[in-house]
Amino acid sequence: MKVIVAKDYEDMSARACEIMVKSVKENPRAVLGLATGSTPLGLYRNMIRDHQEKGTDYSRVKTANLDEYAGLDKEHEQSYAYFMKHNLFDGLNIDLANTNIENGTAADAAAECARYNALLEELPRDIQVLGIGSNGHIAFNEPNTPFGSETHVVDLAESTIRDNARMFSDIAEVPRRAFTMGLKNIMNAKKILILANGANKAQAVYGLVKGEVTERVPASVLQLHPDCTLIADEGAASLLTEQTK
Ligand code: PGA
Repeated sequence: MKVIVAKDYEDMSARACEIMVKSVKENPRAVLGLATGSTPLGLYRNMIRDHQEKGTDYSRVKTANLDEYAGLDKEHEQSYAYFMKHNLFDGLNIDLANTNIENGTAADAAAECARYNALLEELPRDIQVLGIGSNGHIAFNEPNTPFGSETHVVDLAESTIRDNARMFSDIAEVPRRAFTMGLKNIMNAKKILILANGANKAQAVYGLVKGEVTERVPASVLQLHPDCTLIADEGAASLLTEQTK
């Protein structure tokens, strides 16, 4: 795994943007795997600024998002479909028909998972952006998710519900279940770009880079990926750098 320690959140976001823009410039038909959460917001702001100032073209780019809350419609303000539209897609010249995410309100969850798995097979991702949960989850693959998992519905861990409650007016409103790509789907991306900021991610980042490869820490599976880059700010990288001092 390639590890880049960024000075702060802005530096992490700028460096991540350089990698994403390079992928799109090298391949105007690139398939981007995208993530939600606080971590990639700065990356997305930088991608929009780059598009506005330098004209990077997304007209033929396709995307596939990691996960979506079960029960939230795509117009719901806390849905990840809404997040992507408002925090990235509206700022780019991307065709919304080329963007993909699980349907949180699908009546038949198993059929929706099968549809998404088939879509991911058809659209191999050139690069997959990831954040990391404080408990080491990637997407909504919580601790003890099998490394061989594909798209599935999960019961969110209590720690994830607490972490995500800040986005909702009340913790009781945080959905308890979500659709998520599985770890096998994530590992199938040609390149992985995982971002982490803040000292509350330091333990998870340590497990990602230096811990045992174990299903107890889902992110540790990325140690087995042939082309994975981590960009962590100084807080998130603090347990890695302490070791080398
Ligand atoms: P965050 O979430 O970016 O909001 O910290 C990361 C994650 O849970 O994967």
